[in-house]
Amino acid sequence: MKAIVIYYSQSCGNTRKIAEMIGLTTGADLCEIQTAEDYGSDYDAVMSKARDEINSGFIPEIKPLTADLSQYDTVIIGTPTWWYTMAPAVRAFMRQYDLTGKRVYAFQTHGGQPGRALKDIRMLSKGENIGDFAVEFDSMGGSNMKTTLDELRAWIAAIQ
Ligand SMILES: Cc1cc2nc3c(=O)[nH]c(=O)nc-3n(C[C@H](O)[C@H](O)[C@H](O)COP(=O)(O)O)c2cc1C
Repeated sequence: MKAIVIYYSQSCGNTRKIAEMIGLTTGADLCEIQTAEDYGSDYDAVMSKARDEINSGFIPEIKPLTADLSQYDTVIIGTPTWWYTMAPAVRAFMRQYDLTGKRVYAFQTHGGQPGRALKDIRMLSKGENIGDFAVEFDSMGGSNMKTTLDELRAWIAAIQ
């Protein structure tokens, strides 16, 4: 298989950390989704902007991916949970890039309330959805992982 982890990470790099671990373990390439406009670093301001965006269905502009997805048969999508769903940047990716014919895995990082993020990704994906996983971190947006390393490693080991 040729696999790539496509991920978005904004607050403290939780999703990036998991993406890197998947890359190291499976040999998958990594590609970060970046918004054209930065959300800034004020946590409360990001929370309220994100809530407005999600409530109104706003899709932000994202920079073109640095990877050519046609080269990959397996795509592993990673998103932080924003207001119980995927971050708008990941929704933008799902809209712009057609995953038809690809094997799709997804993971979310969250702070205790995973909501419907993975279900929403599965619904938007036109690929073959193989499996997904939720990784829990501190409830206050911190970087302390609560999901055990064994559980995470077992999920990563099943990626093929
Ligand atoms: C705008 C925003 C909304 C969030 N909404 C939720 C949520 O609905 N449920 C939850 O459990 N955590 C929520 N969080 C916490 C993040 O999902 C969690 O800290 C995640 O690991 C951050 O990943 P990152 O460091 O890769 O950006 C939210 C964080 C932000 C910034």
